[in-house]
Amino acid sequence: MIGAPPAPVRKRQDQSGSEMNGSLVVVDDVPAEFSERIIEAYHGRPNDMFSIALSGGETARRCYERLASTADTQIDWWKVDVYWSDERCVPLDHPDSNYFLARQALLDRVGAANATYPMRCEEGPDPYQLRVGELGKFDVVHLGLGADGHTASLFPHSAALNADPGRLVVMNEDPLGNNPHRRMTLTFAGIARARLVIVTVSGEEKRDALRRVVAGDDIPASRVHADRVIWLADHAAADGLPNP
Ligand code: 6PG
Repeated sequence: MIGAPPAPVRKRQDQSGSEMNGSLVVVDDVPAEFSERIIEAYHGRPNDMFSIALSGGETARRCYERLASTADTQIDWWKVDVYWSDERCVPLDHPDSNYFLARQALLDRVGAANATYPMRCEEGPDPYQLRVGELGKFDVVHLGLGADGHTASLFPHSAALNADPGRLVVMNEDPLGNNPHRRMTLTFAGIARARLVIVTVSGEEKRDALRRVVAGDDIPASRVHADRVIWLADHAAADGLPNP
């Protein structure tokens, strides 16, 4: 089902004067709406090739499985270049790898992509930084939202939150130990290279983090900026938020 039309961009002033960036769209079926938005972005791409950066986590897995089943004929996957928003520093065939997740949930199912650019921790961040720099802009960056307010692998109190402004990609880890593995991640500057960021948020365990994003609280996910940012949430995650 196509979700409700995008809520108006919600600029909210909280006590710190910061604002939510982007529009909140509350839908019944996040994976279905995610798929529709990706198909829409693909058909509206300005160039022949379509570049998308994928995330990890169980919401992402459900979104990619749905995309694989709904977009098989609506997207020419030979025109899609696949990047990652973040990656765990494990082998690419490790069950915790975001590359492995995307292969299982999407790429092996659609059976094609023009190119995949996995993040390779053993190389360090610089080769990926160069690749993203050469790309210029992502058509889409897909992000999840952690209950602790992280997105990609930009964890609360982690070094990557204060990366040099010129860094698009860095290594990082969760100093509080709530999220496993050393990581490679896009920085906020790397995420800002997106024409469209879609953050998918599902489940009541994300309610507080989403509320804090809407309020403009100082949590990592609140710092996501790009040409356009859509917060795609289900009713369980958005419960209690004032209607736009
Ligand atoms: C990662 C992800 C991470 C994820 C969120 C949401 O590598 O762990 O990129 O940012 O998207 O933690 O994950 P869930 O959907 O599983 O809650």
